[in-house]
Amino acid sequence: MLELIAHLRVNQTLPDQELKTLLMETDQEVLNVLYENARQQCQRHYGKKIYARGLIEFTNYCRNNCYYCGIRCENRNVQRYRLSKEEIYACVTEGYALGFRTFVLQGGEDPGFTAKDIGEIVRWIKRSCPGCAVTLSFGEWEKDIYQYWYNCGADRYLLRHETADEGHYKVLHPEKMSLLKRKECLAQLKEIGYQTGAGFMVGSPGQTLDLLIADLRYLQQLQPHMAGIGPFIPQKDTPFAKETSGTLDMTLKLLAIVRLMLPKILLPATTALGTIHPQGRERGILAGANVVMPNLSPIAIRKQYQLYDNKISTGEESAQGRQLLENRVRSIGYELCMCRGDSQM
Ligand code: 5AD
Repeated sequence: MLELIAHLRVNQTLPDQELKTLLMETDQEVLNVLYENARQQCQRHYGKKIYARGLIEFTNYCRNNCYYCGIRCENRNVQRYRLSKEEIYACVTEGYALGFRTFVLQGGEDPGFTAKDIGEIVRWIKRSCPGCAVTLSFGEWEKDIYQYWYNCGADRYLLRHETADEGHYKVLHPEKMSLLKRKECLAQLKEIGYQTGAGFMVGSPGQTLDLLIADLRYLQQLQPHMAGIGPFIPQKDTPFAKETSGTLDMTLKLLAIVRLMLPKILLPATTALGTIHPQGRERGILAGANVVMPNLSPIAIRKQYQLYDNKISTGEESAQGRQLLENRVRSIGYELCMCRGDSQM
């Protein structure tokens, strides 16, 4: 097993069967070796810096109906909100004063915002906050719209592929969504010049080890600058309400393997990971993650952006809790970095 880990580190890949063996490993001593290798690879490129991003969840309206997600359009139990431009600017201004130099604007696919609205918001942030990066995470749009936002100054785009298998994609999404479209968007984003993020949930309904290997192969092929990888967590108003969460161990293994396959990738220790385990994000960092995304959204609306149940939203995961977050990161020997934190890829 230790040889497999060394092989993965040196060659940045492993055959399917060996990957599967690694994904099935449960011996904590072996896993600690895996995580240590992932940490070392991360430190070669990023040192002991953990990049902080200010997350603004600007709308929970969504035209999609993804079966796993709490803000799916058919969920009548969610109170919908849409931040005004002024409210978004207030979040950004507060975040900038707190030291944040990356703002992530994340929302459901909300037709209530026109392409021009988003462009205007991006322009405002880039003009008002010198030296900052803007990340959009707003779903699937036409290529010319992606290009327009890029021209307005957007630097990065997050769009998880969710699963790299067409059949499994259909298990997680309604008929009218397709993996082909998702992959097309990701290819376009990269082509335009965005630092692009893909990613997937760990432990989503119907997921198998073979499907996880397909996710890893897709990341190797796409070579994204970032990958969002966190556990699936059921949300009570979705068809997956009775399913079980992804586990801490499986998520950590995947973070570490992705770090070893794509050593320079930016990997967040996700809020979902922090939600399934009190030390989830620290453990994520110790398995190769190097980004945290505390919440800058107005506190009053945070409860309404419930992609999954029991999502944490105060304390360290809030931008206002920056000192708490800094303490936590320091406690495991890392330092929080408020810089832009561009990908080294
Ligand atoms: N559990 C975990 N992650 C989820 N997401 C959506 N719903 C859930 C859930 N129930 C993730 C998706 C999406 C990102 C914004 O949040 O992967 O891309």
